[in-house]
Amino acid sequence: MNIIEVKNLKKIYQDEASTTIALADISFSVSQGEFVAIMGPSGSGKSTLLHVLGLLDVSSSGSYYFAGQDITSYSSDELANLRNQKIGFVFQAFNLLARTSVLDNVKLPLVYSKIAEADWDNKARRAIEAVGLISRLQHQPSELSGGEKQRVAIARALINNPDIIFADEPTGNLDSKSGKKVMSIIQRLNEEEGKTVILITHETSTAEHAERIIHLLDGKIDSDIKVAKRLSTNDEYVK
Ligand SMILES: Nc1ncnc2c1ncn2[C@@H]1O[C@H](COP(=O)(O)OP(=O)(O)O)[C@@H](O)[C@H]1O
Ligand SMILES: [Mg+2]
Repeated sequence: MNIIEVKNLKKIYQDEASTTIALADISFSVSQGEFVAIMGPSGSGKSTLLHVLGLLDVSSSGSYYFAGQDITSYSSDELANLRNQKIGFVFQAFNLLARTSVLDNVKLPLVYSKIAEADWDNKARRAIEAVGLISRLQHQPSELSGGEKQRVAIARALINNPDIIFADEPTGNLDSKSGKKVMSIIQRLNEEEGKTVILITHETSTAEHAERIIHLLDGKIDSDIKVAKRLSTNDEYVK
């Protein structure tokens, strides 16, 4: 089944001074369980595409079927619901709440879910355990390393058991060792839990975790190639 199917997607930013065509004409689909890396030069439209696919922003024209649903006419409330139930995000800058514990950061998406409050603590603990940070439950982001912050962000992305994870340069702010650990967690989520992963990166070593690499250029797909999937990195995964 295709979790994502877009046709002739366009995104145009317009203000008084200028018009920018961020996405010129994008058509492709992604099947459930795929691991796709998106690459391309700065300004080629990668983040814009991720925001549109992740229902954080809407396209200017074109069609988008997400998990079989035509979402082009959805209200912002309907999009937010779908996003909360099906999608997890990981960003380069972590986007954690300052002066808020790891536990509370990870719990945050549950506030907008239908999950009973009595279950929040247990669910959050399990997600934090899955990224190897159970010993950091009460730490605040400022007390964590970059790699640990990104693992908290991954736990937060997983808390609602999403079908798909969108990551925009998740290793961009990390040293190579922490980056590897983050990528091994993402790869395990794809391989063992069947999560679809769409990840932006400019690093070949990060893109090698994917089984498909899409290159963008000037808001268009320049190439879309299946690649040999890298061997499982489970041995690198350290709790
Ligand atoms: N909110 C915005 N308003 C106006 N222009 C934007 C906005 N966001 C992105 N752009 C422009 O759209 C193009 C694509 O940007 P982006 O998707 O961020 O590229 P990438 O992530 O590949 O670097 C760039 O020319 C950028 O300046
Ligand atoms: Mg970007």
